[in-house]
Amino acid sequence: MQNNPNNPLDNKPWTIKYQPRSAKEVQGHDEALITIKTFILNYKNQEKRAVLIHGNVGSGKTCSIHAIAKDLNYEIIEVNASDFRNAEGINTTVGNASKQLSLFARGKIILVDEVDGLSGANDRGGVSALTSLIEKSYYPIICAATDAYDEKLKPLKKMCNFVEFKSPNYQVVYKILNEICSKEKISFNEIDLKSLARKAAGDIRGAINDLQSLVQDKKILQTEAIEHLGDREKVESMFNALVKIFKASDASIANTALDYVAEDLDESTLWIDENLPKEYTNPTALAAAYNALSKANVYKGRIRRREHWRFLVYQTTLMTAGIAAAKTEKNREFIKYSPTQRLLKIWRANMRYGLRKEIAAKIAVKTHTSKKETIQNTLPFISIMMKKNKAMKESFIQEFELTDDEVGFLVG
Ligand SMILES: Nc1ncnc2c1ncn2[C@@H]1O[C@H](COP(=O)(O)OP(=O)(O)OP(=O)(O)O)[C@@H](O)[C@H]1O
Ligand SMILES: [Mg+2]
Repeated sequence: MQNNPNNPLDNKPWTIKYQPRSAKEVQGHDEALITIKTFILNYKNQEKRAVLIHGNVGSGKTCSIHAIAKDLNYEIIEVNASDFRNAEGINTTVGNASKQLSLFARGKIILVDEVDGLSGANDRGGVSALTSLIEKSYYPIICAATDAYDEKLKPLKKMCNFVEFKSPNYQVVYKILNEICSKEKISFNEIDLKSLARKAAGDIRGAINDLQSLVQDKKILQTEAIEHLGDREKVESMFNALVKIFKASDASIANTALDYVAEDLDESTLWIDENLPKEYTNPTALAAAYNALSKANVYKGRIRRREHWRFLVYQTTLMTAGIAAAKTEKNREFIKYSPTQRLLKIWRANMRYGLRKEIAAKIAVKTHTSKKETIQNTLPFISIMMKKNKAMKESFIQEFELTDDEVGFLVG
């Protein structure tokens, strides 16, 4: 079937052409959508006056709210938080809309999309404008974010009911791609389409865009084309991963926490080690969590020594689900995670170690001894002499052509 040039949708991206027109067409978020709809219909009686939807890029946060608004025949006022950066901006855009009644007394929903865009250093004004808007608004406010754990959003989070959009699994993505293929009369084989769905790693928009770019107007999906398509880069922040591990009560959620982080397992271990004591305040839970972490390290040793790669799964499971399961109750406090101090210390130690080797090399040449011996015997001696005697210090600097850093190392 040829595209119909008179149909404007034929030239549109498929993400728009096939955007869900009703909540029923949104895939994979049934429960979340019911929660949101119920909130919208009863928001006046709710203790918390807004909803914060959070979930992965391209998982359907924005289109779901549009679909619900259509179902309810509500007007939707959409603002993108990153469009305005201060109190004035929010007030002029949504302020009035939040007060007036609709012309035909239609219901309204105010969608403040991408509120994580408000989390930059200078956006405190934006966050507080949003919270006061929520306090005063006559209409329900729905906020959406990919990363809801930014500390700057804390005041906002206190006022919101949380709704998580879980990352859709590949079967959900496959179902959507499959429907589009049949509507577009694209021939494909199931394995290829499934592999495309898997590569999307939960990003439905990404998957649809990939499909459209791969078939273009050929109407056939070729295996080779998919193979050339790299895995969709989905790097999750270490921050999100830690939240999953520390706060999850469901081991299967925690289990995948490290799947998409850029850091390797060694670095992840250091992050966990650094932040675990801040989260697990109960000593029994803390001990159990460290037990899991140390067992993970035992597996790591075996993997390294004997190349038992199949142990890798145990190492990750202990680091994620093992730690998640160590607690009896999650810490409801917001904890600010920090990068590991240990890495910094190792780095500093390495720098010092490197410097020491360089100095030893310079001295060894002149004293006709080995570097090892210089490090062991000569260096401490030179260092003491330089600290005690200024003239001696100057002559060593000249003799061994020491740089400022090296002198700092010796006398510091
Ligand atoms: N759950 C879903 N069911 C059906 N289609 C979906 C779903 N999620 C995404 N899509 C498709 O992907 C497009 C983009 O989704 P949407 O913009 O709602 O994602 P998002 O979660 O808001 O992403 P972002 O985090 O980038 O704001 C939609 O227009 C729709 O075509
Ligand atoms: Mg969106």
